[in-house]
Amino acid sequence: MTAIDPLVNLETTMKHAALLAALTLTVLSAQTNDPAPRFTKDNELLRPTNYREWIYLTSGLGMSYGIRPAGADAPAFDNVFVHPSAYKAFLATGKWPDKTMFILEIRSSASHGSINKAGHFQTDLVAIDAAVKDESRFKDKWGYFAFNSGGSLRDSAKPFAADSACNACHEKNAAVENTFVQFYPTLLDVARAKHTLNPSFVAAQASEGASK
Ligand code: HEC
Repeated sequence: MTAIDPLVNLETTMKHAALLAALTLTVLSAQTNDPAPRFTKDNELLRPTNYREWIYLTSGLGMSYGIRPAGADAPAFDNVFVHPSAYKAFLATGKWPDKTMFILEIRSSASHGSINKAGHFQTDLVAIDAAVKDESRFKDKWGYFAFNSGGSLRDSAKPFAADSACNACHEKNAAVENTFVQFYPTLLDVARAKHTLNPSFVAAQASEGASK
C-alpha cells in the first residue's frame, strides 16, 4: 500500500481548483466579450447581444449610400463595432481573420433635448445589421444579415443571397476586403502601412485625386 501524504494531497487539490477557476474565467470572458459568430442549424446567424462591449470603430452621421434615405432634420447615426480578437488581428496584419463579425447599429437622432442647443445626439435604435467573414460558409467569404423585421428585432437572421445589394456594394466599393475601412479613421492608416488596401479602391482614389 502506498501512503498518501495528506498535505501534498491537499496542495494538489488546491492547485487543481485554482486552475479550474482560471479556466472557467477564460471561457466565460471569451463567451461574453469575444464570441465567434454562432449559427442555428438552419444557417441563421444568432444576433450578438453584447456587441456594445466590442471595439467601436466609427459613427457615421446622416450617411446615405443608396439603401436608406438620409433625413435632413434628423439624420440617422450608424455605429460600427467589431469583436476584439478580429480587431487585434487587423492591427497586426491589416486583414480580417476568418470568423470576423461586424455590427452596424443604426440610431435616430434629435437636436432638442435636455440642455442641448445645437448639434445632434443619438436616440432610438432603428436597425441592427451584421457582416461575417466565413470562408467555408459563404461563396464570396462574406455574409450579410439584417435583424429587423416589421419594427421588431429578430434573435437570428438568414444571410442575404450572394448576389444581394449588400454583397455587391461592399465588394465593389470597400477599401479592405469587403469592409469600409476608408471610413474607420484609425484602421485606414493600419491598412496603408500593411499595404492591404484593395487595388480597386486605390485606383478609384487616384482617379478622384486626378479629377480634382
Ligand atoms: C450602396 C452601398 C451599400 C449597400 C447596398 C450596403 N452597405 Fe453596408 N456599408 C456601406 C458603407 C458606406 C458602410 C460604412 C458605414 C460607416 O462608415 O459608418 C457600410 C458598413 C456596413 C457594416 C459595417 C462593416 C463593414 O463592412 O464596413 C455592416 C455590418 C454593413 N454595412 C451591413 C450591410 C448589410 C446587411 C447590407 C444589406 C442589407 C448593406 N450593408 C448594404 C455601404 C453599403
